[in-house]
Amino acid sequence: MNLELQIPNHIGIIMDGNGRWAQEKGMPRTMGHKSAIKTLKELCLHMADVGVHYVSLYAFSTENFKREKSEVDFLMDLFISSFQKEFQFLIEKDVRVCFSGRREPLPEKVLQAMDKIVEDTKNNQKFTLNICLNYGSHAEIVDTTRKICEKYHKGEISLEDITEEYIQKNLYQDLPPLDFVIRTSGELRISNFMLYQASYAEFYFPKVYFPDFTVEEFDKAIVEYHKRNRRFGGIQK
Ligand code: FPP
Repeated sequence: MNLELQIPNHIGIIMDGNGRWAQEKGMPRTMGHKSAIKTLKELCLHMADVGVHYVSLYAFSTENFKREKSEVDFLMDLFISSFQKEFQFLIEKDVRVCFSGRREPLPEKVLQAMDKIVEDTKNNQKFTLNICLNYGSHAEIVDTTRKICEKYHKGEISLEDITEEYIQKNLYQDLPPLDFVIRTSGELRISNFMLYQASYAEFYFPKVYFPDFTVEEFDKAIVEYHKRNRRFGGIQK
């Protein structure tokens, strides 16, 4: 990959199209999710190599609980096995894993697998992988507001302390703003993903389904990011 390219500091990935990928191949939808794990592993290794510092993955939204129970159960088991097996390489690769989202009503076994991988990678420094699991941006804003109100009621902070920076620090994770959001499968929506963090992000919507979002597709996305002129509300240079 051309090292002169600007690399986004924080990338968000909405991993869409797993179900369609599988259905178009005559397989059950769940095979798409399984195949996505292989894609993710390769992408994580590549992103660490090219110097991305933060990656936020939309793994399961608060709304995804509305899916068929069999698919939800499959995904929960897939999370457990990924954190216990497939994602163990992250420990050696110096990747820190953290999670964004509500713990309720995730099954206890999923929570245990999440807590274990967080603990095992807590001192890692190469990059941070923030997995959004049972995540919704509206829920995050509600939870953050409650957290801040509680501190205010206890007299720990005054109204003047509530700044944009303070709100960011009290989101599920205190991460830098998103620079680049990629949503695979050609859908042009943000679907309740990191609305506060994405306020000045650049967006990219490749047509490929997530299992086909290879390292080569990722490099194409970075070339596209490099061409963008980010002005943050200022004047074009
Ligand atoms: C969207 O595709 C994908 C999901 C709701 C699940 C994403 C989950 C994974 C990739 C599993 C692993 C993640 C981690 C971090 C272990 P879709 O099912 O909505 O596809 P469709 O739009 O074609 O139906």
